[in-house]
Amino acid sequence: MAINGSTKLYGILGHPVGHSLSPVMHNAALAAMGINGVYIPMDVTDIRAAVSGLRALGFIGVSVTIPHKEEVMGCLDEIDPVAQRIGAVNTLLFRQKPGEERVTARGFNTDWLGANLALAEKIPLTGSRVLVIGAGGAAKGVCFGLVEAGAEVVITNRTKAKGQALADWLGCSFIPSDQVGDIHADALINTTSVGMEPDVDGIAVAPALLDNFSVVMDIVYAPLTTRLLREAEKAGCQTIDGLSMLLFQAAVQLKIWTGEKPPQDVMRRALVEELRRRKAS
Ligand code: ATR
Repeated sequence: MAINGSTKLYGILGHPVGHSLSPVMHNAALAAMGINGVYIPMDVTDIRAAVSGLRALGFIGVSVTIPHKEEVMGCLDEIDPVAQRIGAVNTLLFRQKPGEERVTARGFNTDWLGANLALAEKIPLTGSRVLVIGAGGAAKGVCFGLVEAGAEVVITNRTKAKGQALADWLGCSFIPSDQVGDIHADALINTTSVGMEPDVDGIAVAPALLDNFSVVMDIVYAPLTTRLLREAEKAGCQTIDGLSMLLFQAAVQLKIWTGEKPPQDVMRRALVEELRRRKAS
């Protein structure tokens, strides 16, 4: 689509953002939706100046990523109550209310919905039991989403204090890594970087334990089929790869910005092709 005076502006603010998969996914979606829009990566360090600039430039919406998800909250007019509870914003929507000169910036968090929606395709979340490995930023969003959906979440983490702190914040339980074998659950989610290139032989849980779960999900997407997912398939589990979470949270962002249902199949194809292209180059 030709860029012209009507082109709508979207993008991602982060530092660094050079390797983000979001541009390829969002641009494919905008094109398929017939929207005259572009989504560009913007490597910024001064988030306050960046948000002020985007407001003035007439941007419609942007994604916000590391390291700005918390600091950006101080630059906004309104924050969605769920984002407020999580303490992080990953999506901005700029809007000019009819009759008003000022553009308002509203913040949302769609990260927590990514894993939630991906897992909900396989099992009903309410009342299900899910073991989450890891207690970092990704785990926080994943666990929050599961608790919000009414799942019983059990957290395990290499560093006990960090895992226990996340469990306490969410009101769920924590088990030390050496007791994971005692847990039987509907799903297992790896939120750590174990298994990510170049550590492709890494696996966050002993393969012999995978029998204890019906669904196994990994947030690592390079490689797309991690050792965890390969072993899980062998054990007869349903599997969910790391692109699913990325895709679902982005689809919610596009819905916020456009009001329309985004083409998730197109977005997923764009992601897979981009990963293939990167691997080959
Ligand atoms: P992110 O924001 O991507 O979640 P993070 O905040 O650095 O990243 O968290 C990474 C998580 O992966 C942590 O739970 C970390 O465990 P620790 O709390 O013990 O550091 C976990 N992790 C990373 N590498 C790991 C490894 N080799 N084995 C086990 N857990 C690991």
